[in-house]
Amino acid sequence: MYEEELSAFHETGDTGEIWFGFESVERVVNWLEKSPLSTLTSDIIDLGCGNAAMLLELYKRGFRNLVGVDYCDAAITMAKALAEKESAVIKFEQCDLLNDTASTCSSLSYSTYHMCIDKGTYDAISLMPNNAQLQRTCYIKTVHRILKENGLLVITSCNWTEKELVHQFNNGFALLEKIPTPTFNFGGQTGNRETVLVFKKMDVKMTGSMSR
Ligand SMILES: C[S@@+](CC[C@H](N)C(=O)[O-])C[C@H]1O[C@@H](n2cnc3c(N)ncnc32)[C@H](O)[C@@H]1O
Repeated sequence: MYEEELSAFHETGDTGEIWFGFESVERVVNWLEKSPLSTLTSDIIDLGCGNAAMLLELYKRGFRNLVGVDYCDAAITMAKALAEKESAVIKFEQCDLLNDTASTCSSLSYSTYHMCIDKGTYDAISLMPNNAQLQRTCYIKTVHRILKENGLLVITSCNWTEKELVHQFNNGFALLEKIPTPTFNFGGQTGNRETVLVFKKMDVKMTGSMSR
């Protein structure tokens, strides 16, 4: 997908699609701006940053210690080009979040970040055709490893409900806050298109399996 976005950017300057729309970026950035738990110098990483829309908005609002990782080469090339265009100083690195060896990617070192942001990446990993449950466990371990003590994960998902996410992250994380999203009614039921949760890293030894 980012290969096409990258060539469109080179040809027309089009900055590409924003996953779940710009409101989903604003929702997270507004929360970070207001939260007493984050400051403009907090170390923040966007996991699966795509075209870096989230990081560029954070940079515009004054956040300065920003890192973006994605395993897609074209996404990282595009993110770098967009950051350069905006004169935004953001570190980008091509990393696979499921590769459990921290040494392969300097951005995924132990206890590095106050905040991890994920918008759509855990969803993408959850939809992998092969052994998605194992991949999810691996992802959760990576997030736990790279967060500092009491660090936070702000996750936006359109695939999982609050209850499901709380269950999946219960080994190593505690729910701190739910960020409100618009609701819709269908067939007499009320639902949300997206779930946005803030999890706090708990100081526990991560164990092996996690289930749906
Ligand atoms: C649904 S897109 C969301 C992109 C971006 N976060 C946004 O909100 O626009 C999921 C992103 O996760 C990245 N991704 C998926 N699996 C990954 C992995 N194992 N390691 C790193 N990035 C991954 C994809 O390349 C893609 O950019």
